[in-house]
Amino acid sequence: HLNLKGKHFLTLADLSPESIKGLLAKALKMKKSFTLGEETNVLKGNILGMIFEKPSTRTRASFEAGMLQLGGHALYLNSNDLQLGRGESIADTAKVLSQYVDAIMIRTFSHQTLEELSAHASVPVINGLTNLYHPCQALADLLTIYEKKGGWAGQKLCYIGDGNNVAHSLMIASAKTGMDITVACPRGYEPDPAIIKLAEGFSKASGSKVAISNHPIEAVENADIIYTDVWTSMGQEEENEKRLREFSGFQVNEHLVQYGKSDFVFLHCLPAHRGVEVEGAVIDGPHSAIFQQAGNRLHVQKALLSEIL
Ligand code: CP
Ligand code: NVA
Repeated sequence: HLNLKGKHFLTLADLSPESIKGLLAKALKMKKSFTLGEETNVLKGNILGMIFEKPSTRTRASFEAGMLQLGGHALYLNSNDLQLGRGESIADTAKVLSQYVDAIMIRTFSHQTLEELSAHASVPVINGLTNLYHPCQALADLLTIYEKKGGWAGQKLCYIGDGNNVAHSLMIASAKTGMDITVACPRGYEPDPAIIKLAEGFSKASGSKVAISNHPIEAVENADIIYTDVWTSMGQEEENEKRLREFSGFQVNEHLVQYGKSDFVFLHCLPAHRGVEVEGAVIDGPHSAIFQQAGNRLHVQKALLSEIL
């Protein structure tokens, strides 16, 4: 009924608002039955292949644990240990792996690599993060916002920091579910113009707003949700010094969050750097829901896997 069976999950832009909300309703239900200790073996005999070209704690552990909890199995495939790392093509890798596993999750650099994998795989492909998008994270973010705020429509989300993969997926997620989103970045670090356009299109349909700003205080005014991510993403390590300089003034600290609503919720996809993009007092303070958010990765992905497979 969600119309996801056999489909790839590359970006939330491909899903209707109804499918996204249905998936989250399913995640909430599965979370409840998991908490009650009820057994579900809906993925018995299914195998998920997981290709990683970058490090991971949450994505790797939650996908593997999720498959095991549903009665299936997961294969951790580090690209350095695959022939992929020695120049085998992504197309050949896709054709071979498709005969062994029921779905493939990949964390990679270029979004094009993900698209190429999905074009040549005969099984569903799941985006476990590319330089462009992080849709599994955005699903967990939406579930956390629902649990904390009771819904999405009319909520004001302010993302402060780098206009990166996490920001892009959050923009799409917000626009699809009727949340207003303001992204505040230093000049030169705004989201991809094509993604801004895409999100604006979805927001017209849901009646929400997408705004881009270079002024953190203005952007955070009256926010229900304040979100940040690292300033230096995986693969950008050599830019770290420059980014530290250029992002100063965009730290989420106690001074800045005063401008949000008094009952704001703080979110961060993690891993976090206390004292860099966020002050310890905020991320470890009473408004923070970061561990609930990280926990929800498990539940949204279990819902996703059981719909796709
Ligand atoms: N948020 C997230 O995707 O974390 P990992 O890099 O640990 O998977
Ligand atoms: N933007 C970060 C997210 C990590 C989960 C990165 O791509 O490294």
